[in-house]
Amino acid sequence: MEEKEIKILAIETSCDETAASVVKNGREVLSNVISSQIALHTLYGGVVPEIASRKHIEKINPVIEEALKQANVTLDDITAIAVTYGPGLVGALLVGVAEAKAIAYARKLPLIGVHHIEGHISANYIENKELEPPFMCLVVSGGHTHLVNVADYGRYEILGKTRDDAAGEAFDKVARAIGLGYPGGPKIEKAAREGNADAVFFPRAKVGDSPYDFSFSGVKSAVLNYINSCKMKDIPIVQADIAASFQKAVVEVLISHAISAAKETGAKKLAIAGGVSSNGVLREGMREACRKNGIEFYHPSPILCTDNAAMIGAAGYYEYLAGTRHGWDLNAIPNLKLGER
Ligand code: KG4
Ligand code: ZN
Repeated sequence: MEEKEIKILAIETSCDETAASVVKNGREVLSNVISSQIALHTLYGGVVPEIASRKHIEKINPVIEEALKQANVTLDDITAIAVTYGPGLVGALLVGVAEAKAIAYARKLPLIGVHHIEGHISANYIENKELEPPFMCLVVSGGHTHLVNVADYGRYEILGKTRDDAAGEAFDKVARAIGLGYPGGPKIEKAAREGNADAVFFPRAKVGDSPYDFSFSGVKSAVLNYINSCKMKDIPIVQADIAASFQKAVVEVLISHAISAAKETGAKKLAIAGGVSSNGVLREGMREACRKNGIEFYHPSPILCTDNAAMIGAAGYYEYLAGTRHGWDLNAIPNLKLGER
């Protein structure tokens, strides 16, 4: 008997990318359309929520049409609509949620609200067809730094998280401080290639009572203090050295926490997810650390690390199989917790 094809139309508008995708049976991406607003927000040095919402409302229909077209399907072929409903910017999320509801209502299709971080984690399923839970996942994005034990599809246990800034946020703030601008992560990575990672020692923060929690505000302040002291002493600031030294400090902590969590819980597989996981130094360091410790390492391609809707389609598929259905009262939840329904 031929297996039923489940095609999910997924929508993601939680921050500054308007994205839609058609995903077949959870792991096959038929289309992945992303309209980025980065150029627009760069003018302001970061994401302006009001502008993001307005841009989403302008782009959402053409982006969905393009996703259906590229997938060579119509709404008649779609089994369910999945949409990010949190966490994120409330006005931005509302555009995607309202759109998803309208389509689901008009076409009498199931509506599935997806947690944005569950989406980032599920991005790993797309190119790693053999990856199945349980596994450990380090989620590092602009808004989140979480160490998550993925016990099963849709079952998450948070072992550690940041007490202050997220890893991506620290990249963005340090980039601004050293004059690299927005978005900071890719710019720091690029500048760091020309720099000496041992030029300046920045602290590797430990959070006393919890071995898996993170803190990045200290390293950010250390960079700012270093810049100020250079200015006072009239020492030239070498952007590339600061970028490389800062990146090394953050990456070392991310790797050591993730590896010790994997080892102590006996996890045989470790995945990374979120915008910062496209960082080459983090990937290579994690690959090497996993190899040394006999752990299988997984990561998505860069395009699936930053915000996209294919990851929401992958997560939406497993939620669909688990029977998750949301009603017409689905709302945007800006501070939605992982594992909440
Ligand atoms: O997952 P994402 O696209 O959006 C959120 O859900 O937050 O992550 C965006 C974050 C930004 O802070 C950006 O600076 C960071 O990911 N990022 C990077 C790199 N590419 C993006 N950080 C370090 N290295 C990169 N190559
Ligand atoms: Zn994200």
